[in-house]
Amino acid sequence: MQASPAPAAHTNATPDSISRALIRVVYRSRCLTDDDGERAILESSRRNNPEHGITGVLVSHGGWFMQVLEGPVLQVNNLMAKIRNDSRNGEFLLLRANAIMERDFGQWAMASTQVDAEQFMQLLDALMYDSKPSAQMLQDFVMEGRWRDLPAR
Ligand SMILES: Cc1cc2nc3c(=O)[nH]c(=O)nc-3n(C[C@H](O)[C@H](O)[C@H](O)COP(=O)(O)O)c2cc1C
Repeated sequence: MQASPAPAAHTNATPDSISRALIRVVYRSRCLTDDDGERAILESSRRNNPEHGITGVLVSHGGWFMQVLEGPVLQVNNLMAKIRNDSRNGEFLLLRANAIMERDFGQWAMASTQVDAEQFMQLLDALMYDSKPSAQMLQDFVMEGRWRDLPAR
């Protein structure tokens, strides 16, 4: 018996539409800078991200960064390449990359927060596995005003 041909894939995707699709990435890296360096990172994030359609949050604790970046796939890739090469951090490890329909951090060019060790581990866990509590936990941070330097836009 002959195998029937696979059905033609039905897709409207074009190289252009794919490069505009939204993704969310989560990575962690070691912080190799001081408070002034962190402030400078946030300043350039808030200056640059709006024009590239990037939103997200930068979490820091005990010498580690964890960052969520959302935006068009091309822009997020370009930014990740810059960050990987930035000597203010090291041991870059991509934890998660997903196509998304909508942003979680749409209001923030780059929100920032410092958390305690337990919160950092919980966030890491939740953001990696995209469990329900992550959205809830982040919401709580926002509601309780624990975010530093809110709206960047
Ligand atoms: C942990 C970390 C996170 C960063 N996040 C961003 C970011 O969200 N947006 C951004 O433009 N630059 C970010 N940067 C800085 C870039 O690596 C790079 O220095 C910057 O984009 C250069 O732009 P500028 O010359 O306008 O400052 C980050 C750097 C580090 C170390």
